[in-house]
Amino acid sequence: MKHEKTHQNTPPAHQQAGFLSMKLLMGVFIGILLWGGFNWSLEMTNTESYCLSCHEMQGISFDELQETVHYSNRTGVRASCPDCHVPKEWTHKVVQKISAAIRELPAHWSGKLDTPEKFEEHRLAMATLEWNRMKANGSRECKNCHDSKSMDYTKQEPRSSARHEEAEAEGKTCIDCHKGIAHHLPKGWKEASKEATDKK
Ligand code: HEC
Ligand code: HEC
Ligand code: HEC
Ligand code: HEC
Repeated sequence: MKHEKTHQNTPPAHQQAGFLSMKLLMGVFIGILLWGGFNWSLEMTNTESYCLSCHEMQGISFDELQETVHYSNRTGVRASCPDCHVPKEWTHKVVQKISAAIRELPAHWSGKLDTPEKFEEHRLAMATLEWNRMKANGSRECKNCHDSKSMDYTKQEPRSSARHEEAEAEGKTCIDCHKGIAHHLPKGWKEASKEATDKK
């Protein structure tokens, strides 16, 4: 009796194969949805308004950026937060998004930076992280817009072109010499940045 019952509940072989391919199809379908959702959230979290949803509350980053040539200039080309802080290339972008989420979300929920005073207190440490990151990747994000090969030294101020030609020879990258191009520099930046840029 028992044996017959299980037998009745088991569908014939060809039907089983049908279920299998149905499952496979569903799997692929869900995969595509998740993949799309993943890329969608990648894009959603790569906008200035997303960054500002946390960082504007601290009252600093955006106001300061607006004062610089990276926000408002003769030619109207504007750099937004992700332009300088998030890699363009997909793999690098995903890695950074995930590590940023792991650190920034809990720090946000714990209220680590929820006032301008707290922001100032942590500012040097945060700036140092960014300097190290940019130093390590050869100021990759700057080069998305500023291609040193396309810099026409003859059109630059003599002191710029002199330093830029030297820089190439010395293997220096943009961030070694151009700190504070979008934000006010934190107190003690000189000592700290020496450390940040000297350690390879
Ligand atoms: C959920 C809130 C939140 C959002 C959204 C957010 N941040 Fe942050 N961010 C933080 C907090 C909190 C820290 C401090 C992390 C720490 O030091 O523990 C931080 C730190 C930073 C730092 C300092 C360097 C570092 O790695 O700690 C940079 C640069 C930064 N954020 C840029 C951005 C950019 C660009 C975006 C948009 C793509 C963004 N943030 C979106 C909360 C946020
Ligand atoms: C989204 C494009 C973009 C990115 C990314 C970018 N810049 Fe710029 N940068 C510009 C534009 C546009 C100007 C202004 C050009 C002009 O004078 O009209 C500028 C100007 C400058 C200047 C001249 C400043 C001055 O006061 O005249 C320096 C130095 C500079 N950028 C360094 C950097 C560094 C370092 C990085 C990386 C941390 C960077 N930029 C990232 C677009 C960008
Ligand atoms: C060795 C130091 C050094 C390095 C490395 C360096 N710069 Fe400069 N740069 C200077 C100096 C000095 C000036 C002159 C203006 C100033 O005092 O800020 C300058 C000026 C500029 C200007 C303004 C040019 C003009 O004459 O209007 C831009 C844009 C710029 N740098 C971008 C970059 C970018 C992008 C990189 C990385 C590819 C870079 N620099 C690397 C030292 C450096
Ligand atoms: C032109 C490139 C550029 C743009 C645009 C830019 N940043 Fe930055 N950011 C930097 C650099 C370089 C540092 C490292 C500290 C320094 O040199 O000022 C930095 C540092 C920071 C820090 C660490 C604390 C500090 O003040 O040093 C935070 C947080 C931050 N940026 C958030 C933002 C947000 C939010 C935006 C958009 C509103 C933004 N950044 C736009 C280049 C940029």
